[in-house]
Amino acid sequence: MGETYVHGYHRRENERLEDQAGTLVELLHSDTVYPDGSLVLEVGCGVGAQTVTLARRSPNARFVSVDVSADSVAEARRSATEAGLTNVGFQAADVFALPFTTASFDHVFVCFVLEHVSGPAEALASLDRLLKPGGTITVIEGDHGSAYFHPDSAAAHAAIRSQIALQLEAGGNALIGRQLYPLMIDAGFDVVRVNPRMVYVDSSRPDLVDGFTRKTFTAMIEGVRDSAIAAGLIEPERFDAGVHDLFRTTESDGVFCYTFFKGVGEKMHT
Ligand SMILES: C[S@@+](CC[C@H](N)C(=O)[O-])C[C@H]1O[C@@H](n2cnc3c(N)ncnc32)[C@H](O)[C@@H]1O
Repeated sequence: MGETYVHGYHRRENERLEDQAGTLVELLHSDTVYPDGSLVLEVGCGVGAQTVTLARRSPNARFVSVDVSADSVAEARRSATEAGLTNVGFQAADVFALPFTTASFDHVFVCFVLEHVSGPAEALASLDRLLKPGGTITVIEGDHGSAYFHPDSAAAHAAIRSQIALQLEAGGNALIGRQLYPLMIDAGFDVVRVNPRMVYVDSSRPDLVDGFTRKTFTAMIEGVRDSAIAAGLIEPERFDAGVHDLFRTTESDGVFCYTFFKGVGEKMHT
């Protein structure tokens, strides 16, 4: 992906991913536990924000976590070491050229990665090949079209749309959550279940106001300001008003909603 990747490589973005992972752990991962002795491939582990949760929840499973960015892999390895994890191995690898043999993993886990690749269907098909028959794949993605809030704001929606357009220009898809089911079926998984996981935030949940609305979603939109303006997708004043209005939803009378999609596919065929 290199230069075309919209977010993920900078310190602030890494902190954002860690805030996101910390805030959403229960919502996204409470039902992800792997059996003792199983071998799990995590693709696009980034700086290890989900890896630590996954490996802690399944201490007797073994994880191989890969990412196309060698720098992120190094950071992830440091996080896992600091967390005292001994059941994870890391390596740099591209989802489109994974250095593993066919049917070598019991389970595959992919979180917030397909939205950034230009061929999500091909990526899923290659992961299907790496799974043993009877294995599962878990895919978690967001969908920025699912963001709605109070007070509502046309400028905020325009700023969000500029991020969606930018990600599309980079070959990704910020609306991929709603497509998980057909993508997973087309990739060849035999049984697929997709569950929406809604984040609902009002001021009675200050941890989510800070961790999700402010530091995850609004920070992500704010982070594309210069690129979106440079690409001519939005005027600076409009973008700034939109970000202001997103922060406005974090006040005592504000509300913010967003839906993630978690798909689990089973491979029954050989
Ligand atoms: C938004 S981050 C998510 C990281 C992590 N899964 C998490 O949830 O915190 C997306 C990650 O996908 C990785 N990525 C993008 N394209 C990739 C590819 N072709 N192969 C492997 N990883 C890729 C990026 O380097 C980045 O670390």
